[in-house]
Amino acid sequence: MMVSAPLDAAAPQHDIDGTMFLINRDWRVSRYYIPERMRQAEVKGQVRTLREEAAAALEEMYAACKEDANITLTSVSGYRSYGKQSTIYSNKLKRVKTKAKADRYVARPGASEHQLGLAMDVGQKGKTNLSESFAKYGGGKWIRENCWKYGFILRYDEGWEDVTGYGYEPWHIRYVGKEMAAAIHEKNIPLESFMLLLREEQLLDIIIGDK
Ligand code: DAL
Ligand code: ZN
Repeated sequence: MMVSAPLDAAAPQHDIDGTMFLINRDWRVSRYYIPERMRQAEVKGQVRTLREEAAAALEEMYAACKEDANITLTSVSGYRSYGKQSTIYSNKLKRVKTKAKADRYVARPGASEHQLGLAMDVGQKGKTNLSESFAKYGGGKWIRENCWKYGFILRYDEGWEDVTGYGYEPWHIRYVGKEMAAAIHEKNIPLESFMLLLREEQLLDIIIGDK
């Protein structure tokens, strides 16, 4: 189901330290926002820092993938500060030359959910990182099928670019907690669209609720 209401009608923007805060090109955070309570996930790879609850979920998920499929998933990029995102965006722009191309894959500073400490770019040991071919690797397939069980969603799926604003990123997962991840997985829609549904449900509760 696709929801066509404007994004600025989207929901819970009051709890930046919660797990359902929407951040994208239209909804940005301050350069000063740094999550409290972050830690390094005990997994293989670089930049392993995430919010505590996301780090714990990532560890559980990577261990399950090893157990189920004998695949070692790695951390490529977790928490990124506003400044780090700014550097990544500038480097991408230098490489691809136009903002239109850079904007397809890298968020501008303040617009990345990596700044929330809730996003991870997942890699697979021995394979090329941050490539669309991740979707074809065992690790990428396992993540697509199973990440929701651990509270993560695929944030930039194929065909969602008009809604999310970004090209297909089979490696980028976002922590939203197990209950929300299960509901979003079941609907198979982008977080932006799901937020609108939540908002509609909240409004309905207010209108028809007997509280
Ligand atoms: N690659 C995603 C969109 C980010 O930079 O946050
Ligand atoms: Zn990412």
